Amino acid sequence: MSILIKNKEQIDGIRKSSKLAGELLIYIADFVKEGVSTGYLDELIHNYTIEHGAIPATLNYSGFPKSCCISINEVICHGIPSPDVILKNGDIVNIDVTTILDGYFGDTSKMFTIGQVSDTAQKLVDATKHCLNLGIQQVRPGNNIGNIGYAISRYATAQGFSVVYEFCGHGVGVEFHEDPQIDHAARKNSGPAMKPGMIFTIEPMINEGRPRVKVDEIDGWTARTIDQKLSAQFEHTILVTETGFEVLTDVSNEY
Ligand code: MF3
Ligand code: CO
Ligand code: CO
Repeated sequence: MSILIKNKEQIDGIRKSSKLAGELLIYIADFVKEGVSTGYLDELIHNYTIEHGAIPATLNYSGFPKSCCISINEVICHGIPSPDVILKNGDIVNIDVTTILDGYFGDTSKMFTIGQVSDTAQKLVDATKHCLNLGIQQVRPGNNIGNIGYAISRYATAQGFSVVYEFCGHGVGVEFHEDPQIDHAARKNSGPAMKPGMIFTIEPMINEGRPRVKVDEIDGWTARTIDQKLSAQFEHTILVTETGFEVLTDVSNEY
């Protein structure tokens, strides 16, 4: 395995797919509220994806049964949407969408808060968003990939939180999961140097308590914190440019 440097045609294709993934999260926002099932949200995401000429990458991916991942409270990632799971006041919710448009992949996720959430929950969500931002600010040619995880883990631990190390960001675009692996906790100046044309996700999962993951033995997917404390995640797909970065899934021009 090696890190693919994308050509102009590939970059344009991945840019389009990523834009659609970003738009999906804006579209779904209006529906994410107390009393709604995650199965219903998945249906809306599925239909919007298809109507825009794309395919949800998670559907049937290694047997994953739905068109997005929806992970609530102590679920770290890979929550399976279900008509039986109803959002309730105080929940923190990650929705993770991956599109395939004209064969190219875009991958993004964000947190939603339902009604009134606890101060701790809000602090965790805000800190996790800041972790993604700090990671993105490390993206430029010549910088080591490990500096992304170094920046993230330094901030997360200073806030009293922990960084999940059993799931990582990844190269993306031509395949769903490509090299390199993007660790969200890493040593300063470790890992390969970034080069223009690399495209990868940064998707820190930050825990209120201990960092360890336990995958549900029955469904084989749902990854929870081992102490049942909260976890949050934000994800963007990022292109290394000649001068720095372009956040391909950022459609609200935050970056
Ligand atoms: N979208 C997830 C990621 O960020 C992967 C989900 S794979 C699934 O890499 F099978 F759980 F859907
Ligand atoms: Co990803
Ligand atoms: Co994702």
